[in-house]
Amino acid sequence: MEQGSILVTGGAGYIGSHAVRQLVRAGYDVIVIDNLTTGHLNAVDKGARFIFGDVRDLNLLDAVFRKNHIVGVMQFAGKIIVPESVSNPLTYYDDNFTAVLSILRAMRTYGCKNIVFSSTAAVYGTSKEPAITENAPLNPESPYGFSKRAAERLICDCEKAYGIKHCIFRYFNVAGASEDSSIGEAHPVETHIIPVTINAAISGREMQIFGNDYDTRDGTNLRDYIHVLDLADAHVLGMKMLLDGKDSAIINLGSDKGYTNLEIVNTVSEVVGIPVHWKYGPRRAGDADSIVASNALAKQLLGWEPKRDLKQMITDDYNWRNSHPSLYGRNKATFTREDRQNMIFVSKSQSTTALYEDIENKDRQHEERLRKLNKIN
Ligand SMILES: NC(=O)c1ccc[n+]([C@@H]2O[C@H](COP(=O)([O-])OP(=O)(O)OC[C@H]3O[C@@H](n4cnc5c(N)ncnc54)[C@H](O)[C@@H]3O)[C@@H](O)[C@H]2O)c1
Repeated sequence: MEQGSILVTGGAGYIGSHAVRQLVRAGYDVIVIDNLTTGHLNAVDKGARFIFGDVRDLNLLDAVFRKNHIVGVMQFAGKIIVPESVSNPLTYYDDNFTAVLSILRAMRTYGCKNIVFSSTAAVYGTSKEPAITENAPLNPESPYGFSKRAAERLICDCEKAYGIKHCIFRYFNVAGASEDSSIGEAHPVETHIIPVTINAAISGREMQIFGNDYDTRDGTNLRDYIHVLDLADAHVLGMKMLLDGKDSAIINLGSDKGYTNLEIVNTVSEVVGIPVHWKYGPRRAGDADSIVASNALAKQLLGWEPKRDLKQMITDDYNWRNSHPSLYGRNKATFTREDRQNMIFVSKSQSTTALYEDIENKDRQHEERLRKLNKIN
């Protein structure tokens, strides 16, 4: 396996921070880039180097790739709220697509050949399959889903053109926290049902279950849930697969089984030992009856299967929330002296960088090659 560093974008976020921790534990040298828009500095493992910045910033990427031998990138940076993507598609395409474009440009310039990418079940849209396989039709139904699908397509095109290999993971619903309760889910706006239900249990506030006339065993939506640590393990295996020289792949990460919203609420009450106050609300536009992943390909290619069940996800999320009433607490963008010792600061004063010049040269050379091969006029 080639020696070098792994760059994790969005490594201060919910899933990224768990993956960073697993990578560090597995012995990788890890560099994190995060702009802390929804991430938290305290979530980043102290064994990783942290760079405060935006992954769309080509100057920053140039400096990071020039100074480090980066052999692989894990791209978590992005935005995740579906309704927000409907009201603000420009931001979603920018964060979920432009960010990937910038990373791939830097990877191409500096010869980095491996990317593990966070995609989503939202690329499938509504599927009729009882367990969705990777070959199911792709019909995203929101700008969020389209932005991820567009990024997937770009990544696949970059393999054909530049030999950059990929492991694209399509996640289903992620939940849970680290086993020691030190890191967990802390989105500024929490829309995921497990943390919403646990927050309702802790606070005593009433929550809503949206719709009770779906075609499922109890009329409420049925979804597939996966523990964030299982997901992080899969990322380490995905990166290893690429570094070991294996082929690119697009892989679902789910559990092969589903739970209804009502079952989630009842299981939270049971596990936490506090009754959850809830009522039925109206259906939400675009919610499919059931969404369950087939995870056969993950088993076959990575030897991976989820080890932690729904009760474990709920227990871990509850312990994290209960032990961190204000989650990560302090203002995210202020850094203490200790924080600064662990951070790398990158000068952004250069107006023209190697990366920009290299992009133009490489694009010109590539065009000439294609012209010689009569692929373009
Ligand atoms: N959470 C889920 O259930 C879920 C499901 C499917 C897919 N995903 C995907 O997984 C990825 C991570 O999700 P998450 O739940 O950890 O979200 P998150 O919001 O907790 O993490 C995203 C991180 O990226 C950072 N970031 C965003 N834009 C950036 C930029 N331009 N430059 C640098 N950093 C930037 C944020 O500060 C944050 O730390 C996302 O791409 C998301 O689409 C998540």
